[in-house]
Amino acid sequence: DPAKLTLDPAFEVGPVERRLFGSFVEHMGRCVYTGVFEPGHESADDDGLRRDVIELAREMGVTAVRYPGGNFVSNYEWEDGVGPASERPTRLDLAWRQIETNAFGLGEFMSWAGEVGVEPVMAVNLGTRGVREARDLLEYANYPGGTRWSDLRVKHGVREPYGIRVWCLGNEMDGPWQIGGKTAEEYGRLALETAKAMRRVDPDIELVACGSSNPRMPTFGSWEATVLEHCYHEVDYISTHAYYDAVAGDRASYLASAVEMERQIEDVIATADHVAAKLGSRKRLKVSFDEWNVWSQSLFGGESGLDWAHAPRIIEEEYDVAAAAVVGSLLITLLNHADRVGLACQAQLANVIAPIRTEPGGPAWRQTIFHPFALTAANARGRVLRAQVTAPSMPTEKYGEVPVLAAAATLDEGELSVFAVNRGETSLPLAVDLRGLPRAGTISHVTVADADPAARNTEREPRRVEPRAVQGATIDGDRLNAVLPPLSFNVVKAS
Ligand code: AHR
Repeated sequence: DPAKLTLDPAFEVGPVERRLFGSFVEHMGRCVYTGVFEPGHESADDDGLRRDVIELAREMGVTAVRYPGGNFVSNYEWEDGVGPASERPTRLDLAWRQIETNAFGLGEFMSWAGEVGVEPVMAVNLGTRGVREARDLLEYANYPGGTRWSDLRVKHGVREPYGIRVWCLGNEMDGPWQIGGKTAEEYGRLALETAKAMRRVDPDIELVACGSSNPRMPTFGSWEATVLEHCYHEVDYISTHAYYDAVAGDRASYLASAVEMERQIEDVIATADHVAAKLGSRKRLKVSFDEWNVWSQSLFGGESGLDWAHAPRIIEEEYDVAAAAVVGSLLITLLNHADRVGLACQAQLANVIAPIRTEPGGPAWRQTIFHPFALTAANARGRVLRAQVTAPSMPTEKYGEVPVLAAAATLDEGELSVFAVNRGETSLPLAVDLRGLPRAGTISHVTVADADPAARNTEREPRRVEPRAVQGATIDGDRLNAVLPPLSFNVVKAS
């Protein structure tokens, strides 16, 4: 049977939230050092920023980047990373047992973000630090001048304030692995007090409270409720994180990972709205899905297995075509929740579970998962339409029967973009019912697929997997027809 997608311009989710195409740069492994930053590299600019990576990040269409962690931030002293590079201390990073030289810090990151053209999303340390250091950092970054910390920024050569709007109040504070982790009560109070102080410095900021590290945490749901009972009025977002494992459990469940993401988004929204009801508030929070990706986490030996090193190779996952389909379905899920997910960051950008890979002194290339991200960021414009899917299903251990089709659609001034993943191992005919949508004249279909679902891009063969045009999509009256290759991510456009 063909899979059916019904669209109607009268039924929409909401505007495409551009911040859904966020990414994440953490001081972890080789994401910063020999990833985005490598003085002496042939492509590096005067600041040591790798231009090849800047160009790839632009091409990917990244809109916002979270920094500097991640677990790293919970033991980080931001002052170490500003001012003359020669005076910066070398420190132990306890999160990943790395040697941190601090050659890259806030100023370098902001230069890089400016070059790429992305909005910075800054995290503050609420592990080993608190209200005071968060306040100081915000004053350094956003206050115009004439005070201790803002004048220090000016002294460091940055006259204009950075004007960073989005701030994360810590990272994964529920995790036992987090340096300075907290109970929900402790964190809720700390988030409230930090938010209060930060808003006094700059009332225009948007604040993200930490939700659970993943939906399998024993406190998932109750953590969000307790934290928000403390800080609901002071924050704008509640965060959530998830990584989908290609090697743990059955493959069908892995291919259907977006089902888990959808449930998680809905659970977090329900919990936040429950707190709103209890507090008698009409204000609604947005979800910040500020870490998500495919990661074979079950193969990761944990932080204690890491040895002190600078820029070690940590979790440099190589992604295949199947991973590109899963990543595509996760992007589709985010789009379909654009009314309540206000920010999302794929973790991470370079080398560490990343769409962009580099070699020190060598090339940079696109992993398979680069392509669904780039295609979605480029084509999701205007408004997200409600996607009504009727499709054959496949059995999964974790989620029962799951439709083989995942789909989302956007409409922008008569241009329709359909994003579709075929989770099945055979070709899938797709029929899109275009009720009331403007009659399309031209149609195009691009796919990310390969005869071998294990195909990947490597340093030796960096372009093995690339988007390619598919012929044969047609419009017949109110119906758009296309055939989705096995295990594929697709964009079908009609205008
Ligand atoms: O992205 C890798 C790590 O995963 C982050 O540092 C942490 O927040 C999460 O557990």
